[in-house]
Amino acid sequence: MKMNRASDKTLLEKNVHSLGLNQIQRHVLLCADQTKPKCCSKQASLDSWDYLKTRLKQLKLDQPTQERPSCIFRTKANCLRVCASGPILVVYPDGVWYRNATPEVIERIIQEHLIGNKIVEDYAFLVHPLPESDQSPISDAAGAKRANRQSPPQITPEKIARVDQPKSPWRKIFQRFWKG
Ligand code: FES
Repeated sequence: MKMNRASDKTLLEKNVHSLGLNQIQRHVLLCADQTKPKCCSKQASLDSWDYLKTRLKQLKLDQPTQERPSCIFRTKANCLRVCASGPILVVYPDGVWYRNATPEVIERIIQEHLIGNKIVEDYAFLVHPLPESDQSPISDAAGAKRANRQSPPQITPEKIARVDQPKSPWRKIFQRFWKG
């Protein structure tokens, strides 16, 4: 497909702005609308997705505002490869993986984790924040830009109620699974 570079660039810039991509505080991915529903029924996943979308919008968390210059970005993932006890939901950069993310559980994740900065331990089965990648090649210009960028408020390790110590055999199994 032939692309018009100028209009593509304009469209990309427009979407970066309209989606608030440079002001994302957290990214929530939910297994939904699966090609092969394994962790839950397709309908259950779609109910959860609709709830997540609606509530982020209602609470004005999906767009940066003057009072809150950061936003929560959401993505419908076809399958997050855990394929059990779904819908599966993961929150980055915190790296918190949730099971059974029904609308009811999503409401708790929104209120307690996304707003209150406290992991919903009843449903978290793994906490694995991605390590800082200081080995990745990054140009000086990009590095300077990143350093100068005004970061939205981030969750701090002190604020995270860690669930590193498994409290149930079920959680232990998943932790082992993810650590390979
Ligand atoms: S089908 Fe939901 S994680 Fe794979």
